[in-house]
Amino acid sequence: SEQSHHPVKESILCEARAFVQEDASRHADGHDWTHIERVTRLAARLAHDEGADPFICELAALLHDVPDEKLNDSLEAGMVKLHAWLDSQPLAPAAREAVVNIISTISFAGGQGAALSSLEAQVVQDADRLDALGAIGIARTFAFAGARGREMYDPSLLPREQMTREQYRNERSTTINHFYEKLFKLKNLMNTSYGKELAQQRHEYMVQFVEQFKQEWEGTDD
Ligand code: ADP
Ligand code: NI
Repeated sequence: SEQSHHPVKESILCEARAFVQEDASRHADGHDWTHIERVTRLAARLAHDEGADPFICELAALLHDVPDEKLNDSLEAGMVKLHAWLDSQPLAPAAREAVVNIISTISFAGGQGAALSSLEAQVVQDADRLDALGAIGIARTFAFAGARGREMYDPSLLPREQMTREQYRNERSTTINHFYEKLFKLKNLMNTSYGKELAQQRHEYMVQFVEQFKQEWEGTDD
């Protein structure tokens, strides 16, 4: 990769890999190390295509789930952990700020369609979103929902935005509904051109999956 001639950056990425591999391996519900690996690989590819800073993109991709609320006692606890690790590294202040900025905007503050501050943030957000799509996206969704004991499907239950207030208050949603509530929206929220292209392919595969799922559920696929 492009930073292979920069030993300090290379060493920071290596340290980040070791730290995250250790930190992430406990969670087998869609936030495991293999998710981080795929997102980091895609981020490197997109950074190259878009002319974004490859070091910033790869480092932010590696660390992007470290402060995730679902993986820590609280968001604050997760941010403390992220900052403690960054403190241990010989990172330039500007690089550190860029990485923290990306992680904060893409993972929690980053509402749908919210403008991202940098090209690097757009790259990492696309890489993360792409891993929520396609065959892997389907598998992660069922793994996540299964880990929480959520039911797969209930044809009488509409997606959240169409629920009655009572249903919404009970927070009942199904795994299939998650496709409508989030996954099917992602293709229109992509930032980069290769990201859009890949998202479109993965989107079509998921639409086909949900279609087939419903037919089998109703027994009308024969
Ligand atoms: P990421 O870390 O990739 O930004 P999330 O933390 O939102 O994404 O979710 C991780 C994985 O769990 C994704 O594949 C996502 O589709 C899935 N997931 C998140 N929320 C739900 C849900 N309510 N039901 C089913 N799957 C979910
Ligand atoms: Ni992620």
